[in-house]
Amino acid sequence: MKNVIQRAVPLAPLTSFELGGPAEYFLRAESERDVVAGLRWAKRRGVPVRILGGGSNLVIPDEGVGGLVVQMATRGRELKMDGDLAELTVAAGESWDPLVAWLTGQDLVGFECLSGIPGSVGATPIQNVGAYGHEVADSLIWVRVLDRETLEDRLLTSRDCDFGYRDSRFKRDLDRFVVLSVRFALRRGAVPEIRYAELERAVAERAETKRTEGSAPTASEVREIVIGLRKRKSMVFDPDDENRRCAGSFFTNPIIEAADADRVVRDAVERGLVSAPSEVPRYAAGDGKSKLAAGWLIERAGLCKGTRRGAFGISSKHALALVHHGGGQTRDLMAFAEEVQGAVRERFGVELHREPTLWA
Ligand code: EPU
Repeated sequence: MKNVIQRAVPLAPLTSFELGGPAEYFLRAESERDVVAGLRWAKRRGVPVRILGGGSNLVIPDEGVGGLVVQMATRGRELKMDGDLAELTVAAGESWDPLVAWLTGQDLVGFECLSGIPGSVGATPIQNVGAYGHEVADSLIWVRVLDRETLEDRLLTSRDCDFGYRDSRFKRDLDRFVVLSVRFALRRGAVPEIRYAELERAVAERAETKRTEGSAPTASEVREIVIGLRKRKSMVFDPDDENRRCAGSFFTNPIIEAADADRVVRDAVERGLVSAPSEVPRYAAGDGKSKLAAGWLIERAGLCKGTRRGAFGISSKHALALVHHGGGQTRDLMAFAEEVQGAVRERFGVELHREPTLWA
């Protein structure tokens, strides 16, 4: 093994929350052989293995974690063009956003709406990363995984991954596979698809200012606009931002029966939280269900942006991000998360579910 297994390695600096204790054993895997060697090592000792990507969607307990943590640091991008069609294969350890910048810079269309998202490529299929109306599942051809039991690699097609909203078979069974690489399909020079009202407005505004109305924006332009929108919500990492220690959205947007959503909307109107039902953000989610905006529910449950509880709080820019202000403990973050869930449950009868992974 090129890299050695270290003991008692602090994990907090490797996560965006900057919270939690150490890993009992730690391996930085710079090659797939390192990953296999780490898994073999752990198997011989009968210790569990956890895989660390960019650490931007992860909560580590205060006591740390037993067993081996393997940090994916594999690198490699391979781009094959067939006319305007691109097939891109990327190693799990590559960082997502530099990849998106590289792609949009070549007018490769497909990921521009997923600009400014922290974390590693290998993590993207696990929670089916999404933003502004797009998800990685839309462009994914296959995921190459290592079966942790047999230590053999396999290709799982998009269908095998069983993707859902911020969900996949990987997320439901974190111990089964290690994502090694991902293949995506992109298109050069295509017109970026704008599917999100907020983004559509921003694109139109920019066209007006630049007097380019009627002409479609390029992938790079959409990237720039998306990053601008995300910055306003503190959703682009900035070392000077008071909201920087977070994991993006802390809860998923609840998908509930349409009849229950109707009730939430009626309640909101009756209580004077909105003056018209259309003011409650709500999206059709298929199967007779509706998706509500968790950030909206949190604010209307009385936890406004900038709320503080000791070392934690609600982001001052977006109510869906819980933020660590430094010097805190994971147990207090989790207690605060419960308070938020309790407030939304009490006010609206809606259950919020945590989005980041907790290494319990
Ligand atoms: N809203 C509020 N208050 C807030 C935040 C939002 O009332 O503090 C309202 C907004 O006015 C809007 C609605 O809620 O009507 C939706 O807000 P926004 O467009 O900001 O998106 P979101 O649903 O809160 C989701 C994703 C984000 C992604 C954005 C943009 C989830 C859990 N989150 O947030 O993803 O960037 O859409 O597409 O689906 C992440 O997963 O970590 C993440 C940042």
